[in-house]
Amino acid sequence: MPAGLEPDAVGFVPPAPLPPENHRSMLSLALRMTRSQIEGWPRAIYEADTWKAPVPGGALFVMSREAVGAVLNEQADHFSTGALFRRMMRPAWGRGILTAQGHDWRVQRRAASGAFRPAEMARLAPFFAQAAERTIKRWTASPGEPVDLLNEMTRLTFDVILEATLSGAADFDRVTMSAAVEGLFRRINRIRVSAVLMPDRYHEGRKSARTPEREALLAMIGRMVARRRGAPPAGDLVDLLIKARDPEIGAAFDDELLADNLLGFILAGHETTSLALTWALFLTASHPPTLRRLRAEVETVAGGASIAPEQVTKLHFARQVVSETLRLYPPAFMLTRVAGRDTNVAGHRVKAGQRINLPIYAIHRRADVFPDPHAFDPDRFDAERPQPSRYSYLPFGAGPRICLGASFAMAEAVTVLATLIRAVDLQPVAASQVWPVAQLSLRPRGGMPMIVRAKESSNGKHRHWG
Ligand code: HEM
Repeated sequence: MPAGLEPDAVGFVPPAPLPPENHRSMLSLALRMTRSQIEGWPRAIYEADTWKAPVPGGALFVMSREAVGAVLNEQADHFSTGALFRRMMRPAWGRGILTAQGHDWRVQRRAASGAFRPAEMARLAPFFAQAAERTIKRWTASPGEPVDLLNEMTRLTFDVILEATLSGAADFDRVTMSAAVEGLFRRINRIRVSAVLMPDRYHEGRKSARTPEREALLAMIGRMVARRRGAPPAGDLVDLLIKARDPEIGAAFDDELLADNLLGFILAGHETTSLALTWALFLTASHPPTLRRLRAEVETVAGGASIAPEQVTKLHFARQVVSETLRLYPPAFMLTRVAGRDTNVAGHRVKAGQRINLPIYAIHRRADVFPDPHAFDPDRFDAERPQPSRYSYLPFGAGPRICLGASFAMAEAVTVLATLIRAVDLQPVAASQVWPVAQLSLRPRGGMPMIVRAKESSNGKHRHWG
């Protein structure tokens, strides 16, 4: 067990790179950065308001509340995600919300926002609970065997997003679909170093990578959308999006945009949420006081029954655990922007074309905002306590481009966490090996092997499954 990982201690500090000592040279940090970006961030990124990488064309890191607010919100029109980002994401999103800009983005975003309201998302609870129950059933087949929790959660969240976007996908070949989604995902993640080194304007108007999987997936989704337009509602995201209208100009999604966005949701929605769940289960399994409180809450709210839509918002402590997990291990550990024109951010002159990095992982570990910042303490998010400002805690981003699926992800994570911990005991196979690495998202190095057993009853015996 690594230093600090003492399950019953009050200050439980889970494994993660901490701010390095000031004496480390830039070269040693740069070498660490090749392993995992966050390992190479100097101490200043955790403490200063802004920091500029000391190389020609280096990114400006922005950390203070004021500067983050300026880039993501007040001056959002001058800071786009950039041409490289859009070029990479187009194979998944086509003309959909994530890659759209200006008027096209505004109309789609306004229309979809109604569909993604928290109340609508809680209504999807049966999709979340049933997927977790199916996972428990699968685990019963091999009790005591180690499973890779990250794989398991990826499978679960993929199941959820398919059910919620394609309603059971009854006439889809799931295996083909899942292979195509994985293939597409791999291609998108394969960024060439040369692409990142070129100035952003180089990517403007350049073609995206060829992705044959996209055509196959769009054809499947297109057929489903055509059939659903005339069919009775199924209570899923497709219904909500078919009904969605821009409240200002009444525009609806046409078939092509509906398919682009559904494919985008499938890709954006399942990987991030599976990481959040994997880390939340690791933290809960490593900290008995949290596990006990969580189980007591689920027992009071839902007893042994499936978690119902109206119960999701009553699982206050489960939500606190997910929020604290997203603070310590934010899947989107850094956001990037490119300045569209010369401007000024928190007293810094910023030239058009300047890359801006918002290091969420470090912003979430600022001692001036979160006392004892590396310790796991879900009570930070107790509604009775003062909450961090929206620019100090931003696992879902902030401003007009804030994650559209945040309520979906929170409702899913709370329901699945509650359903799983009620039924099983989880034990990391090698807690000392657990370590977050920053690739495209913040992932546990080598997955998350865990032993899963039916939950121990109060007399210390393992209950039967089922
Ligand atoms: C724990 C899970 C999730 C995390 C941590 C997460 C994180 C984020 C972040 C940080 C952004 C903003 C990116 C930026 O400003 O550059 C974003 C945008 C977005 N996310 Fe999520 N996300 C999650 C789950 C989901 C789900 C489940 C969906 C859909 C079902 C979704 C759909 C989107 C969309 C459509 C956008 C783009 C919004 C826009 O540009 O207007 N996300 N997400």
